[in-house]
Amino acid sequence: MANVKVKINGKSVTVPEGTTILEAARKKGVYIPTLCAYEGLKPKAACKLCMVNVKGEDKEKLACAVKVKDGMVITTDSDELFAKRKALVEEMFRQHTVDCHHCMRIGSTLAKDFDPKFCKDCYFCDCVKDGFCELQQKALEFGVDVLPFEPHEHDFGVDVSTGSVIRNMDKCIKCRRCLDICKAQGVGILGIIKTENGQTVGAKNGLKADGCIRCGRCVAFCPTGALYMLEHKDEVVYFAHQYDTETAAMVCSCVIDELEKLYGEKFEYGQLLAAVKKLGIDHVYSPAYARAQSLAQAVRLLDENLGKKPMLLTDNYAAKNFLRLHFPELEENFAFYDSKEKCFGDYMHEHHPGAKLISVSNNNSSGAEAAETGCVDYYINASELYRIIMRTGGRPSVKRPIDAEEIAEFEKSDRYAELFEAGSWYVDKPAEELEFTENGTRYKALICHNLGQVKAAVAKLDKYDVIKITA
Ligand code: SF4
Ligand code: SF4
Ligand code: SF4
Ligand code: FES
Repeated sequence: MANVKVKINGKSVTVPEGTTILEAARKKGVYIPTLCAYEGLKPKAACKLCMVNVKGEDKEKLACAVKVKDGMVITTDSDELFAKRKALVEEMFRQHTVDCHHCMRIGSTLAKDFDPKFCKDCYFCDCVKDGFCELQQKALEFGVDVLPFEPHEHDFGVDVSTGSVIRNMDKCIKCRRCLDICKAQGVGILGIIKTENGQTVGAKNGLKADGCIRCGRCVAFCPTGALYMLEHKDEVVYFAHQYDTETAAMVCSCVIDELEKLYGEKFEYGQLLAAVKKLGIDHVYSPAYARAQSLAQAVRLLDENLGKKPMLLTDNYAAKNFLRLHFPELEENFAFYDSKEKCFGDYMHEHHPGAKLISVSNNNSSGAEAAETGCVDYYINASELYRIIMRTGGRPSVKRPIDAEEIAEFEKSDRYAELFEAGSWYVDKPAEELEFTENGTRYKALICHNLGQVKAAVAKLDKYDVIKITA
């Protein structure tokens, strides 16, 4: 592919043809504000914050969507661009209930009185996204406080129909990231909806009625507090401090990446366990036992069915919902095994009856499974754990590492290891074919990295021995 040379704020940069202005700027370390753009998703040109000036062009260009051309001279910052971007951010607050600036502790709602250091350690605000909200950051960046209009308040309401994935449409800025994610999941129930109070983003008849399978993937992409998993921080903190209630948490290291981003510092797994223990939780376990139990069930299913019929293999709660809803005729091919939350819950219910069980993990469909089946009492993802620790404990990085407690003795098995290691969720990674050998026979598997890939996969069901599904 040919290269093109452009100038950004006077600096020359050479990039491959097809690169967007935003990508070229980032390559050169030039900051352009963005809100709707997100790595792995197609540009949506929804927020317009990335507008830049291109020499010879009358109108601003959107850096996330427009590709560079050889010789382009681009300016990313000026007083005029700042004023236009500020007006755009203000406009986003027109349909937004702001719960994060009415601070009784600071005693002011003005940006000039806002102390980010204070807020970083507070987290008593009403909004779930407070402190790591991209809209809040933009409001601070552009000095948006007193709005030049009367904002709408509580016009759209909150969709709690699923009991786990919550949509607060009064916090939606119509960036449309969630539309792409829901579509990539093969569900596609989110869209721009018209209401008597104006347009917003949501499911026409509500998430549950429209067939949300509670994968919770849209939650991780929402820049504001418009999408979140039902929180349990108050219950968890309450029970952690009850001397007559036993509490036990299974803590998965998959939360570390996001927590490190939120804290802006590195820490190790033992320190995370120490931070959870410090909340007052009696027992902190690794998922090793529960994972081994779950995999043992999968191995049994594979041993029984491999070569006899194609298997749709998954332990994911949302994937099971998806298959039951969209492909009930393939029930015979379902090879469902228990999630690690279910295995953890089963053991603990038998050996620690009455204990309050918490799963700390970053797969939001486990939150739906907990809410709907009661396999564990509470599911906490990285962002909620962050808010809990900020309220009541110290940062993991300052803790002395501790070891996880063992739930019980278990045998480790590495049977079908390639198959189990291959499944992770990606929005934009194509499904992958994988061949593996068992007892001298070659078998063919397809690894689906999201639910959007399942429809094409089941059309070729007979081509594979196993279709492994991550949601
Ligand atoms: S979504 Fe962001 S800006 Fe809106 S109330 Fe919540 S933290 Fe504040
Ligand atoms: S939880 Fe999954 S299915 Fe439900 S709206 Fe979000 S992306 Fe769509
Ligand atoms: S719900 Fe969140 S991700 Fe979806 S359009 Fe609104 S702000 Fe964007
Ligand atoms: S980031 Fe380019 S339009 Fe939103």
